[in-house]
Amino acid sequence: MTETTKEAVETLVAPDALAARLFEATLGAMDLLSVYLGDRLGYYRALAADGPATSAELAARTGTHERYAREWLEQQAVSGILACDNPQADSGERCFRLPAGYEAVLVDPDSLTAMAPVAQVFVGCVKPLPAILDAFRTGAGVPYAEYGADLHEGQAGTTRPQFRHLLAQEWLPALPDVHARLQVDPPARVADVGMGLGWSSIAIAQAYPNVRVDGFDLDEASVQAARANAAAAGVADRVAFRVRDAGDPGLAGRYDLAVAVECVHDMPNPVAVLAAMRRLVGEGGAVLVVDEKVAERFVAPGDDVERYMYGFSILHCLPVGMTEQPSAATGTVMRAETLRRYAAEAGFRMVEILPIEHDFFRFYRLAA
Ligand SMILES: C[S@@+](CC[C@H](N)C(=O)[O-])C[C@H]1O[C@@H](n2cnc3c(N)ncnc32)[C@H](O)[C@@H]1O
Repeated sequence: MTETTKEAVETLVAPDALAARLFEATLGAMDLLSVYLGDRLGYYRALAADGPATSAELAARTGTHERYAREWLEQQAVSGILACDNPQADSGERCFRLPAGYEAVLVDPDSLTAMAPVAQVFVGCVKPLPAILDAFRTGAGVPYAEYGADLHEGQAGTTRPQFRHLLAQEWLPALPDVHARLQVDPPARVADVGMGLGWSSIAIAQAYPNVRVDGFDLDEASVQAARANAAAAGVADRVAFRVRDAGDPGLAGRYDLAVAVECVHDMPNPVAVLAAMRRLVGEGGAVLVVDEKVAERFVAPGDDVERYMYGFSILHCLPVGMTEQPSAATGTVMRAETLRRYAAEAGFRMVEILPIEHDFFRFYRLAA
């Protein structure tokens, strides 16, 4: 055994501790899946809107079955997610409530600490597990569409609060020339690449009332949902979404800013997409890539962010990135060095990492 291997082994826990850790992880997975049920069935929203409830009351408010509602309420209270003030009462008489402040985590879609979308995206990730197993064996990919609505909605749910509270308030002002351009005439144009359900485009249009945004995404279901979201937000006159491969060399237009949030690492051909973004903004425009804030290099064991990103990578990002071959096969863990290489291959001469504080995202400004 080499010195390096010995060191690595010593940083790992004993077998008993690993068993204990995986037991805890099982409880954690059950927490997440129970949060998924509570969110999808409207249980948390009903408790937040109409106050504490017995199982019969919650079932009536949500149109669900009393026996299932009771089991879920008891599971939530036993797990410390809901409170029960009369646990000694007969089961049908027990009353359950959402503890003060928990709405921010379980109910409010605009909260920066919302975790229900994380539960939803987790469920979405495992939906095509048989196809993922097959992909590991054959080297094929798993199409984004096969992950279904939970993945798409959960993903959008995790980023939407950030777009709402941070995109125009912190992220774009970190590019002062762009922030200024977006506020003046003639109206600036923004290309939003891989925009999913469109919340980044909508947030930009809402923050900068003259700006026109074009969103390009390959996933048809996402584009349809994004159009409905823009209409509901009252910005459909300035925000257009199209089903397009963002790497299509035929993509035309002249933009002041091209953005790509949490999507470059998913793309089979990230260089083509970055090259298209470079073309779309021309000489004077700006390109902003927001992607995962992973470590500078592979370190094992890694920290929680690294574990989180590798978890999504094996279940989702690598399989979707393998749907076209040849593929860059990036996976969620796109290191800064990798993005720099893709940017150079796409014709950019400079990549600047912007000084924006964020636990999960790194912000790259690319210049030709
Ligand atoms: C993880 S989602 C991110 C969605 C959104 N930007 C957000 O932050 O919530 C990745 C998105 O990239 C899109 N995508 C992947 N490859 C693409 C390509 N070549 N052209 C356009 N969109 C692409 C997917 O369809 C998906 O909507």
